[in-house]
Amino acid sequence: MSNPTDVSNEARRRRTFAVISHPDAGKSTLTEALVLHAKAITEAGAIHGKSGRRSTVSDWMEMEKARGISITSTALQFPYTTNAGDICIINLLDTPGHADFSEDTYRVLTAVDSAVMLIDAAKGLEPQTLKLFQVCRHRRIPIITVINKWDRPGRHALELMDEIQAEIGLRPTPLTWPVGIAGDFKGVLDRRTGNFIRFTRTAGGATAAPEEHIDPSRAHDVAGVDWDTAVEESELLEADGADFDPETFLNCTSTPVLFTSAALNFGVNQLLDVLAQLAPPPAGQRDVDGNLREADAPFSAFVFKVQAGMDSAHRDRIAYARVCSGTFERGDVLTHASTGKPFVTKYAQSVFGRERSTLDTAWPGDVIGLANAAALRPGDTLYQDVAVKYPPIPSFSPEHFSVARGTDPSKHKQFRKGIEQLDQEGVVQVLKSDRRGDQAPVLAAVGPMQFEVASHRMTAEFSAPISLEPLPYTVARICDPEDAEVLAKLASVEVFTRTDGVMLAVFSTKWRLENVIRENPDIHLRSLVAAGSN
Ligand code: G4P
Repeated sequence: MSNPTDVSNEARRRRTFAVISHPDAGKSTLTEALVLHAKAITEAGAIHGKSGRRSTVSDWMEMEKARGISITSTALQFPYTTNAGDICIINLLDTPGHADFSEDTYRVLTAVDSAVMLIDAAKGLEPQTLKLFQVCRHRRIPIITVINKWDRPGRHALELMDEIQAEIGLRPTPLTWPVGIAGDFKGVLDRRTGNFIRFTRTAGGATAAPEEHIDPSRAHDVAGVDWDTAVEESELLEADGADFDPETFLNCTSTPVLFTSAALNFGVNQLLDVLAQLAPPPAGQRDVDGNLREADAPFSAFVFKVQAGMDSAHRDRIAYARVCSGTFERGDVLTHASTGKPFVTKYAQSVFGRERSTLDTAWPGDVIGLANAAALRPGDTLYQDVAVKYPPIPSFSPEHFSVARGTDPSKHKQFRKGIEQLDQEGVVQVLKSDRRGDQAPVLAAVGPMQFEVASHRMTAEFSAPISLEPLPYTVARICDPEDAEVLAKLASVEVFTRTDGVMLAVFSTKWRLENVIRENPDIHLRSLVAAGSN
């Protein structure tokens, strides 16, 4: 077992976060820029291997060896040296959010200590950013806001601050303020030092943009009226009490704000510094009884995501676990809290796409990929020496519902087994009712992509192809069994039991829900974790 001091030191220098954003706000570009600025790679464009960009997975594996970056499809880990010379270990967890969301996206947010909310300067707050934000708020995850694409015409900075305050109720406390309007990004006023940080473009934004720190006494000569405007606006913010406050940031009532152009690599250093200086490190985890397991306690972790090998070369299941306390050494024999059985970790891996590499040691805040993990489910706890059990990951409010039917009657057994397995893994939620019977369970999902995954796996893995018939519901609420009968009789409402025993009433629209509440004041309905806008 490791020395608790080592564990505390390792935990203290880790920052585990995710970027929450609407598609196209620049999450991939920012991720590349962060890694570039952390000096882990020399040119941007190497991570995601998007068309036209340079790299491939194998380059990654090379890079991984050469520079000590470890990559999984779920987490990207790289070191960052602060101006003060301290080395931080950054764990950037991927929230796989394209147009389609899934519960996986939300589960990732159970494994982070902070989040970066990335906003497109021209678009402001967008629906999927808001959905992810709700989950962060529910979990009390501190949020750093980044206004991106400031190099392109966009909205006024003060207007964006008003929107954040009005729409999500977080008080924006800008740490930097743009010099030059959106579309004319000259640099930023560092509101903590008063300096002007001037950025210089490099060819195609491919390398870290040089930045110059200019004393305020010279800033006007360099940036002219743009500087004067930035100073005036910053003073307005100060008068309005919008200065950074660590306490309200950590208790999730304020959000520090930074301005960037991820594509030009402007403002990215400032974000890394803010993560290193202000974002919270792993600080242990509360167990089911609410007791804190400190980061330097013996090893413990919880599984936040299980991914089945969709590709036939790797038909196994990988469980991703976040380390909460202690040190992980590959080969350790852990205990699986929900069964009490030993779990052997000789297959711990970092995974990127189809490539995998072995992971030997991990500390609080790190993510480990456990292969051959058929027994592990999202929310499961693994521990060593001293028993602990973490609370289950909440299931998020589904917004899509489809009846699943096996299309091959001879595969009835496989159908049941497959649906049960997908339910346990959390691929979809499975709902049943007497009315519909066991043959045709209803699958519920946060995003329709979950149905595609379920359907694919039913065919490929369980040889039990299914047809899915969408149901016209969009909102779910937990209801009490004694209200079920009344609810089930109403139009555009149906009542189901989830496999964990929870009763869900589903409604066609949120207006229908509101209507039902108004007309039936005695009925008791409770929200699930708000994954969405409903
Ligand atoms: P996502 O992962 O959030 O979906 O966004 P992604 O990084 O793919 O960025 C979406 C588009 O926005 C990309 O353009 C990207 O280059 C551009 N972008 C990201 N950050 C900035 C920025 O700070 N300034 C400007 N001007 N553009 C930015 P694309 O045309 O879709 O792709 P590409 O061909 O440029 O890669």
